[in-house]
Amino acid sequence: MSDRYQSFTASPIGQLFVKNLGLPSPVKLDRWTPGAPLVDGTVVVGGEGRLTEGVVATLDGLGVASTRKAEEGEKYKGLVFDATGLKTAEELVALQQFFTPLMRSLKTCARVVVLGTNPTQTETAEERIAQRALEGFTRSLGKEIGKGGTVNLVYVAPGAESTLDSTLAFFLSPKSAYVSGQVARLGATGTKKAAKVADQEKPLAGKVAIVTGASRGIGEQIARVLHRDGATVLGIDVPQAASELTSVIKELDGDLLTLDITAKDAPQRIAHHVKEKHGGVDIVVHNAGITRDKKLANMAEDRWDSVINVNLVAPERITRELLDQGLVNKNGRIIGVSSIAGIAGNVGQTNYAASKAGVIGFVDALAGDLKNDITVNAVAPGFIITQMTAAVPFATREVGQRMNAMSQGGLPVDVAEAIAWYASPGSTAVNGNVVRVCGQMMLGA
Ligand SMILES: NC(=O)c1ccc[n+]([C@@H]2O[C@H](COP(=O)([O-])OP(=O)(O)OC[C@H]3O[C@@H](n4cnc5c(N)ncnc54)[C@H](O)[C@@H]3O)[C@@H](O)[C@H]2O)c1
Repeated sequence: MSDRYQSFTASPIGQLFVKNLGLPSPVKLDRWTPGAPLVDGTVVVGGEGRLTEGVVATLDGLGVASTRKAEEGEKYKGLVFDATGLKTAEELVALQQFFTPLMRSLKTCARVVVLGTNPTQTETAEERIAQRALEGFTRSLGKEIGKGGTVNLVYVAPGAESTLDSTLAFFLSPKSAYVSGQVARLGATGTKKAAKVADQEKPLAGKVAIVTGASRGIGEQIARVLHRDGATVLGIDVPQAASELTSVIKELDGDLLTLDITAKDAPQRIAHHVKEKHGGVDIVVHNAGITRDKKLANMAEDRWDSVINVNLVAPERITRELLDQGLVNKNGRIIGVSSIAGIAGNVGQTNYAASKAGVIGFVDALAGDLKNDITVNAVAPGFIITQMTAAVPFATREVGQRMNAMSQGGLPVDVAEAIAWYASPGSTAVNGNVVRVCGQMMLGA
């Protein structure tokens, strides 16, 4: 399941081909490993607004070196621009003034974060226009930056200024290797405060996390990353996957349950297990998913039903049962796994895309309703290299892998890191988001 094109372009002969034919040349992306610094270099903080002071203090708290003044000849690993002070379209030129001189001073896999105010929460029409403009700026810069760099926009609601820690830690570090051109919203719905993370190395210490579909692929990596961050993982998968699930969960010293999440009594069985063995749950990741592709003209009802049931109905029913029984702990997290197909649509995937767009609806529907600082968010992966995508025909797979700003497919760990960001106790203000983990795929952009 390796990316043979990427290995080829890294070879001397491959580099010659790339250069002469103008082919895409994927950069080896930085990925975080325990013990490594969050940011391997200095971050320049620019702009002036209600977040500037807090950003500098947050970076300091995270152990990230920052400066307000770039030095000529220096190379930087990250740029953070506080655009909350921009109140009119004319003032947007501050973006050009800050970024243009710095764009050639970035290291590989550099991180750019633009901070703004939710356009719907601005005070004047002029400010709303200026803040909305940040999206176009960010998405374009994401396509320009190259060399494995990422560019993301974080809208911070008034009152949510103190909630930046977990979000900056994610977007400035290699944990966001495959997340670019995205807009995250802090404090848009629900609480505008964040719990302090006691231990940055093990932010999930003492937490219990359910991961469905944990025996392989993305689910396995989610289980591994949540365990790395300190959580006890309850992995769930179908009985046919029992031996793979057992070996993953054994390694993580976790707990497991084999059942089909679409079974009529699955929500009750999960709730019963959680109650008896753990007393409650802090993080619920609805990862299990299937595809049964056919053009609609040839779609049998059972293909339609099975996809909708696994990907959408089961997460809804399980969440409802856990919430109704009061088993989701305070500051809990409900996390869905959508897909780029749910945003852009895809030939042969009316059933799958409907289910994955439904996951976005699930986030929208719950976000305003949850109590006790419980949040709901989803990731929407693009092309992630797993057994699911290995089954895609070669030509389609090649196009899928290259049609993004990184010219490569993502890894399951990239999805898992985004989920770990949502799961952090410091992410209470991160509610109602759907962030794509797609290397800024051109589809549905
Ligand atoms: N791989 C990608 O590129 C990609 C892209 C977008 C979204 N996704 C989504 O990410 C999630 C994981 O995908 P993956 O590529 O790792 O897939 P995968 O097929 O490798 O793994 C899916 C897991 O879910 C389990 N599962 C399926 N039906 C189940 C059921 N009824 N009850 C319990 N467990 C069940 C499977 O046994 C398997 O372990 C899915 O929701 C998928 O739709 C994947």
